[in-house]
Amino acid sequence: MKAELILSTIASRRTTRFYLNTPVPKELVDKVLEAARSAPSAHNSQPWVFYLIETPAVRLKLVDEMVDEWDRAMRTDGRPRELIEKTKLKFTHRFSKAPVLIVACVNHGALYYERYADIHRKTLEGILGHHSLAAAIENMLLAAHALGLGSCWYSAPLFCSERVKKALDMKGELEPAALITMGYPSKREHKDKLLRPSEQVVIRV
Ligand SMILES: Cc1cc2nc3c(=O)[nH]c(=O)nc-3n(C[C@H](O)[C@H](O)[C@H](O)COP(=O)(O)O)c2cc1C
Repeated sequence: MKAELILSTIASRRTTRFYLNTPVPKELVDKVLEAARSAPSAHNSQPWVFYLIETPAVRLKLVDEMVDEWDRAMRTDGRPRELIEKTKLKFTHRFSKAPVLIVACVNHGALYYERYADIHRKTLEGILGHHSLAAAIENMLLAAHALGLGSCWYSAPLFCSERVKKALDMKGELEPAALITMGYPSKREHKDKLLRPSEQVVIRV
């Protein structure tokens, strides 16, 4: 029974990008963060730090920095002005309105770079840090879903990590890698998800 419940929670989780204004009780946010902390990690290094954005001025600064970097990057890519403005508005709205905002960081200081003499293995150690953080984030999304919350994993901070670090006054060894929004879903936004056929993704040898 317990296994069925866990499996159906995993299978029914879907990304939710729009939320009610209803605040999320602190106890639920704490449970989600506890789920993150208990994730598996390479060498049990637990190479993660989560910034729970609670101060309105900090949220404003964070969103400003990310959106400003988007503007710069999209102009560099030669995107049309109209699209740039639309994108900026969309994300400003999403990130400003989300009841819960969490920035998930890889803590490179917790990893074991010094064990390896060559750059190749040091690079792999960094990837292990990202794998471990991803496991923690997935735990958060599943915990949120189990608690009746919707969530979305945004990779934006990875593309503007220096701007995010500046906004959150972060120290050197942290690398912002994801932004997670969370709240009570405001509408049914999920289309049926087509899963790649099992024969394509599972290879039996
Ligand atoms: C590493 C990663 C990065 C993602 N980045 C974004 C993002 O930047 N913006 C967004 O709207 N969704 C993002 N998502 C959510 C995916 O779009 C979503 O998981 C995917 O479409 C499958 O839908 P589902 O989560 O409902 O199963 C991301 C998901 C992952 C795992």
